[in-house]
Amino acid sequence: MDKIIITGGEPLRGSVRISGAKNSALPIMAAALLAEGSSTISNVPRLRDVETMADILRALGAKVSFSGDNQVRVNPGHTIKALAPYDLVRTMRASICVLGPLLTKLGKVKVAHPGGCVIGPRPVDLHLKGLRKLGAKIKMEHGYIVAEAKSGLKGSEIYLGGSFGSSVLGTANVMMAATLARGRTVIEGAACEPEIVDLANFLNKMGAKVRGAGTHILRIHGVGELRPAEHAIIPDRIEAATYMVAGAITKGEVTLKGALFEHLQAVVDKLEEAGVIVNRTREVIEVRLRDRLKAVDVTTLPYPGFPTDMQAQMMVLMSISEGIGVIIEKIYPDRFMHVSELMRMGANIIREGPRVIVKGGAKLSGAPVMASDLRASAALILAGLVAEGETQVSRVYHLDRGYERMEEKFSKLGASIRRIKE
Ligand code: EPU
Repeated sequence: MDKIIITGGEPLRGSVRISGAKNSALPIMAAALLAEGSSTISNVPRLRDVETMADILRALGAKVSFSGDNQVRVNPGHTIKALAPYDLVRTMRASICVLGPLLTKLGKVKVAHPGGCVIGPRPVDLHLKGLRKLGAKIKMEHGYIVAEAKSGLKGSEIYLGGSFGSSVLGTANVMMAATLARGRTVIEGAACEPEIVDLANFLNKMGAKVRGAGTHILRIHGVGELRPAEHAIIPDRIEAATYMVAGAITKGEVTLKGALFEHLQAVVDKLEEAGVIVNRTREVIEVRLRDRLKAVDVTTLPYPGFPTDMQAQMMVLMSISEGIGVIIEKIYPDRFMHVSELMRMGANIIREGPRVIVKGGAKLSGAPVMASDLRASAALILAGLVAEGETQVSRVYHLDRGYERMEEKFSKLGASIRRIKE
């Protein structure tokens, strides 16, 4: 297994190009199943999760091919299967987004229940509720979600809000299913993440009629069939925000190329409150530190709130800031696996349920640490960049799921970072 070795203390300087968004690419690849023929998706990040999605689509009978310039072609062909097996689904929760497209296209589907993961229990009740409202009969059988709609799905009015707010992939699944349902569907309490807007744009290019993406109310008029389309994935806002934090904590000057400022408002707002200068020009976003980092409080919320996928990285910034800050995790109350590893590096953090208190001013020191999930891995690497001495991050396969060539990008910015194979 690979390890990443970082020697901290180098201020990061220079520019970094932001890759396409993982969380857009995955549902959009699944949506390509809806068409007859080959869709071409560009700006797709080359990540392990993307490879996993390709393997799932291939297992379903689709042809999937990558070309060098971050392009992927997906052709479902005519013999698409209705079964997504557990050994593939369990490796990536986002596999659940084949559920909606297969059900609406084939009238039946059997997808393994993805289960929970290290960031906590991850139910799919909202996905199933929405699909049932569209007329599907759904049962759980031997760990599989078995759904059927013999005479096709039928448009309906659906409320998709849950105890933790809206569901991103739940909205994606129901929206995709509704594109081929008879009549009109209204989804209230829909997620309004940029990745949902990107998916809706792709579906509309395929001939779907989806209105309201980016708001909490989606209106979808079902159509008879969808055609293949070409689409470029939006930039990854979480990758961009991770590099912004890296620039700030290392007291460097980092320029992001290709990021979309309007997707980053909540993060920019918190960084500015912490004393970071963020400049936006037409082409780039520049980040540097004004003076010293000050403590901030962060509450994670659905978009446009502060993203849960940046909580761990922000905790690193707060650990070395002046003062005491509080993080309240409202999306995944147990997403704190990184806390103990950061404490091993010298961070002062107290956890109480879904809240942590971060006492700033820590002098982090390098240590061997273990990544537990994707964003926790990114946080440990950030901590390594500012820690005194050497940090060894193991289990970096988590990182490879969601950050394209991270050590190469950090290296170019001047970090002392390398990957070793064991
Ligand atoms: N939830 C339910 N019932 C459901 C679905 C979700 O109660 O049927 C709850 C979840 O337990 C959670 C909240 O609703 O408390 C939000 O979960 P959501 O469904 O929005 O998460 P997701 O769609 O499964 C996506 C991203 C995650 C990101 C979350 C929240 C993808 C592939 N994954 O997951 O990304 O954290 O939205 O923004 O889009 C990551 O990239 O590291 C990652 C985990």
